Amino acid sequence: MVHISNFGDVEAPGLVLPPGMISESERRFLYWLASSKHTGVGEVVEIGTWLGCSTLHLAAGLRDAGRGQKLHTHDDYVWRPGMGEKSGLTIEEGQSFFPNFLVNVEPLRSHIDPKVASAIDLGWTDGQIETLVIDAPKSWRTIRRLFKQLAPFFIPGKTRIAFQDYLHFPSYELAIYTASLDMLEPQVVVLEGSTVMFLVTAPVPEERVSDVYSYKQFDAAEIDRLWTSILDFLPKEACNKLALAYPLTLWQLGHRSKAEARLAEMELSRETASFMLKKSNKNVEPHFAWIRSAVRSRYGLSQ
Ligand SMILES: C[S@@+](CC[C@H](N)C(=O)[O-])C[C@H]1O[C@@H](n2cnc3c(N)ncnc32)[C@H](O)[C@@H]1O
Repeated sequence: MVHISNFGDVEAPGLVLPPGMISESERRFLYWLASSKHTGVGEVVEIGTWLGCSTLHLAAGLRDAGRGQKLHTHDDYVWRPGMGEKSGLTIEEGQSFFPNFLVNVEPLRSHIDPKVASAIDLGWTDGQIETLVIDAPKSWRTIRRLFKQLAPFFIPGKTRIAFQDYLHFPSYELAIYTASLDMLEPQVVVLEGSTVMFLVTAPVPEERVSDVYSYKQFDAAEIDRLWTSILDFLPKEACNKLALAYPLTLWQLGHRSKAEARLAEMELSRETASFMLKKSNKNVEPHFAWIRSAVRSRYGLSQ
């Protein structure tokens, strides 16, 4: 049974917050996860802290659970294009913002074990992982690489993995990768956000984290199976955020007439179609160019 909620009944702690890229619902969800769901049988790991908004909610949850466990945080802290606009901070592109992070999380610093690390090479040595929050790499390649490093530390039946941006259309490879791991059982969909959380029910086989494992080898029937399983567990408002990724994937892998048929069957509102076009404006790859043009003509949209 998937829990679908905006966590409106969770009282978020009073925190002085830095700029964040997560919604109010996601903030309450993270606090709930660390304070009420995490049991302490393994570690809590966060990848992708940015300036510390998500980190503070997780750390406050751990503090309030009172077990004395620390949150292990990872980010490469490289200031990227667009971050200035989102934060109002003036930091040169390519510079480290680790000092800013440390200042922001100072009130809960004793509950945090911070590390500067690339998601590609985390150097994880701190044992079994019970709660994992991922808000950094969103591509198939980087998520698979992350799983290669961390899956040996998962505890079947206990480990929960929350993916921020799961419902972000351009990050659709995240949904395909997780759907291809049938030992990941969807547990939570955060409404008014893009986070979905899974329970790990069994060990992740080595072949699913190997460097050659790619959805680009899947046939059309497998793509159909995976997208059907994804869209089946999501509530309608969440499906709408991701639905166009189904024909997009078919087209990307060369199943052009199937992609067109799938798009023709879809019943999105013009507003949803327009919203999804805007979300993918920066994606220049041919499959994104195709979906934008096909959606514009199907829904009579000008941009
Ligand atoms: C969407 S932001 C995280 C937002 C944050 N959770 C919040 O509450 O505002 C993504 C973060 O991932 C980091 N990041 C991106 N690619 C990374 C990589 N390959 N390795 C480590 N960190 C990465 C960025 O530096 C950024 O801080």
